[in-house]
Amino acid sequence: MNILIADDDAMQRELLGGFLEKRGHRVLAAADGEEALRLFGQAPVQLALLDHRMPGLTGDQVLERMKARNPLVRAIMITAYGEVSTAVSVMKLGADDFLEKPVDLSRLLDKIDDLEQQIAIADDLDELVRAVEEAPLPLDIIGSSPAMRDTLSRVRRIADSPWSVLIQGETGTGKELIARLIHLLGPDPNAPFVEVNCAAIPESLFESELFGHEKGSFTGADRQHRGRFEQARGGTLFLDEVGELSAGLQSKLLRALQEKRISRVGGERDIAVEVRVVAATNRDLRAMAESGTFREDLYFRLNVLDVQLPPLRQRREDIPALVEHFLARYARRPTRLAHEALDALMRYQYPGNVRELEHIIQRTLTLARGARLQRSDLPDEVRRAEPPDQGALQERLDSVEREMLLDALDKSDWIQTRAADRLGISERVLRYKMGKYGIRRRE
Ligand SMILES: Nc1ncnc2c1ncn2[C@@H]1O[C@H](COP(=O)(O)OP(=O)(O)OP(=O)(O)O)[C@@H](O)[C@H]1O
Ligand SMILES: [Mg+2]
Repeated sequence: MNILIADDDAMQRELLGGFLEKRGHRVLAAADGEEALRLFGQAPVQLALLDHRMPGLTGDQVLERMKARNPLVRAIMITAYGEVSTAVSVMKLGADDFLEKPVDLSRLLDKIDDLEQQIAIADDLDELVRAVEEAPLPLDIIGSSPAMRDTLSRVRRIADSPWSVLIQGETGTGKELIARLIHLLGPDPNAPFVEVNCAAIPESLFESELFGHEKGSFTGADRQHRGRFEQARGGTLFLDEVGELSAGLQSKLLRALQEKRISRVGGERDIAVEVRVVAATNRDLRAMAESGTFREDLYFRLNVLDVQLPPLRQRREDIPALVEHFLARYARRPTRLAHEALDALMRYQYPGNVRELEHIIQRTLTLARGARLQRSDLPDEVRRAEPPDQGALQERLDSVEREMLLDALDKSDWIQTRAADRLGISERVLRYKMGKYGIRRRE
């Protein structure tokens, strides 16, 4: 270990330092707190042995500053004999242990061994956390682009909490998939996952769908029905397309979420239901809340935690793996993709995101002739795809260049040799560029 000793007593420093070096540790020694902090900034230190009472900064002041810079540093405080109250207070300040003077060297070694073990365990824990981050997901989800990696790492962290989650993203970005993933990574993957598509249920039936009804509560209610809330008890209620709820239904939903109780249509009593709510929408719910089309209080209740799914065009790195994934799923025999076909798929904009890519692969497989999909097998819109944004960039660059030429010419009274000098190009290049941009004379 790298050990920093801070003690104003030179004898003590040498004694401890020599002893620890013989045991294979690397030792830095400082005569006071200031020097200790300076050394601390220069080399990685795992353990500090700090004399509590030093002129200038005291041991616990030094420790506090070290911890501020590196919270992982371990420390043993060395206190005067009999100063138990100090010992307690330095432990409170973050020392891992203390020793009284005169220092018993074999006890010091024991303590260092202990700390070394703790550090090793902490390192293992780090590994463990990393292993969890990389553990296989319970669903087939492709996403090694940085944007998706961030999203998935966030999902792993929030899945275990009881708070509601709002998943936002354009159509087809995988919101439902992520909702299922949150459920499966949550505290009880075997509990029910119940979906409600807020856009698909007619308003008149919504209440009974969600909260259930008693027999005879309305025409056609010929038996008792448990609503989705009750079905999801102890599990996850997935409110898909939640942005489509009417104002009346928003209030009813809000009440159920606030009170964690529902009553069946035509029912007399309230029923307690604990569910974890995951909602999804492709609308900008915040903007809707601001403009008053979505209840703000409901928005905040749904959006305790949020997950944003990036559109596919912002994570093109994932396209090849997604293509492979869908080929494996839908091809009836081993099928590969010609280079030019993948190039075209990489360039396309995907307004319908992953679902659109999925459909493209399905369609192409159905219509293709060989076991190797060609560019010509792809749908028209994909074949026509321009390299993304490149046109726009070139346009911008051209317009900047044209402005710069005009500016330099103006400032040089349209004397071309001088303008070329100004721009750091040859006169010949200047004339070529003037021709390219149609610049003839003063405009
Ligand atoms: N990262 C991914 N890896 C593999 N398949 C994916 C991924 N994302 C989406 N899909 C697939 O794409 C299709 C659309 O996904 P999903 O239904 O979850 O999207 P959505 O955001 O809910 O869409 P909508 O807004 O239209 O409801 C599904 O077949 C899903 O399995
Ligand atoms: Mg969906």
